[in-house]
Amino acid sequence: MRPQAIDLTWTKVRDGDPAPANDAAPFDVTSLLERIVERYHRTHLRDLASAIALADEAENSRASDPTCPPGLGDHLRRLAAGLEAQQRREEFSLFPLLRIGTPRCVAFVTRQMMDDHVDMELRLDALRRFNSGHRPSFEAPLGRQALSFLCRKLEADLKAHARLEHEVLYAALVQQRMDA
Ligand SMILES: [Fe+2]
Repeated sequence: MRPQAIDLTWTKVRDGDPAPANDAAPFDVTSLLERIVERYHRTHLRDLASAIALADEAENSRASDPTCPPGLGDHLRRLAAGLEAQQRREEFSLFPLLRIGTPRCVAFVTRQMMDDHVDMELRLDALRRFNSGHRPSFEAPLGRQALSFLCRKLEADLKAHARLEHEVLYAALVQQRMDA
């Protein structure tokens, strides 16, 4: 079923967005965690739900777009399930550990997050290969064009999300420990 509205807008850097890791501005760990959940976790799952609906629609009308790879919807569903599991791990296990701020938790949490991000990068690579680099022909139906655009947006968002956790959050955690 086609979702009510699909947000194809790429979020631009705005005031209040996290600065690069080499920016000297201090970051508050709790606000960063809230921002990661609201800006990235929720957005990824919303975008994936829209992408799955578009993929199902494209697969159901393969007569008008024979280049649509069969199983694209299932591929996206597996990606969504993996991402949801990662996010649950962060929101219910890793992030609460960071809020408590025990000395040994930083290394453990960071290692787990980095492993998850490597895993997600591999899944994204596989999806891109499966979906012709997210570059359908110009003749492909509009829904397929929107789907590919959404996949590229998701990829860019997930990379920005991983960078925020690897660099800005990690730097804030190190700073927090140095100040303790
Ligand atoms: Fe995350």
